[in-house]
Amino acid sequence: MPDNRITEKNQANWDSYSAAYLRFKHSEKIIHEITQDPSRAFEKGTWQQLRSRFPDLRGKRVCVPSSGDQYAVIAFALLGAEVTSCDISQNQLDAGQRLARELGLEISFVQADTMELSPLPNAVFDLVYTSNGVHVWLNDLPAMYRNVQRILKPGGVYIMCDIHPFQRPFGEKLTVVKDYDNVGPFEDEYCINFAWRVQDILNAMADAGLRFEHMEEMHDQKDYDYPFWLSLEDAVNGVVVPPEEVDRMYDWQQNPEMALPQWMCVVCRK
Ligand SMILES: C[S@@+](CC[C@H](N)C(=O)[O-])C[C@H]1O[C@@H](n2cnc3c(N)ncnc32)[C@H](O)[C@@H]1O
Repeated sequence: MPDNRITEKNQANWDSYSAAYLRFKHSEKIIHEITQDPSRAFEKGTWQQLRSRFPDLRGKRVCVPSSGDQYAVIAFALLGAEVTSCDISQNQLDAGQRLARELGLEISFVQADTMELSPLPNAVFDLVYTSNGVHVWLNDLPAMYRNVQRILKPGGVYIMCDIHPFQRPFGEKLTVVKDYDNVGPFEDEYCINFAWRVQDILNAMADAGLRFEHMEEMHDQKDYDYPFWLSLEDAVNGVVVPPEEVDRMYDWQQNPEMALPQWMCVVCRK
């Protein structure tokens, strides 16, 4: 069952963090890149999975739960889809609404808990997509996937890309900070989160009646705007990392973190 205390604490945290978060995420440079080339809103392997199933998104109904920075939402709308953007944080949705208005895009913004998606009707979406940093805030993945399945049309597709669970036991320089099987909850003053394993995510999908189609385990790409190894603060402050340091960070023999995949993409169908 969704736990209201967890959801409300995380919602308050995202509402207060939203402005600082989006100062970087909605920078002119990044938004310009996405409007010029909507594929920039997606990790490359995930984009290929999306494109192979939806070569033409015009007129398709797409839902993006826990939409956060709205990159995918904007990209789907630019590609002609009819998009519903859901998030628990009204501030994140309001910022998305402002951005959509600036770009002249018609998008529906709906406040909804991803574990319930209660304002959304059954069996209306061709595609449900979730991006990185979604599962970590949710205490009940089976509830999330029952509702993803509920809102998909028969034959509809769910695609996710998130941080690979194999990253979760490690801190900086591969210091082990927790056991893989310790999924949380982890609570601090501001928020409560979880470190779900591959089995927690895949079993929640299967138990909800979603049929597994494909999985990719991917490495960070050098041209990614916000590399996994750079803090958001450094990214916001435009910290310039010397090219030789960037090369070092992407070489697994010099940076063992690169020996494990950073991202996981899963495709399934109702
Ligand atoms: C890290 S973002 C993920 C989206 C996007 N990939 C991004 O990087 O911005 C996390 C988002 O999940 C939202 N969120 C947290 N808990 C939620 C819940 N229970 N239901 C819906 N959204 C939730 C937060 O408000 C935030 O906008």
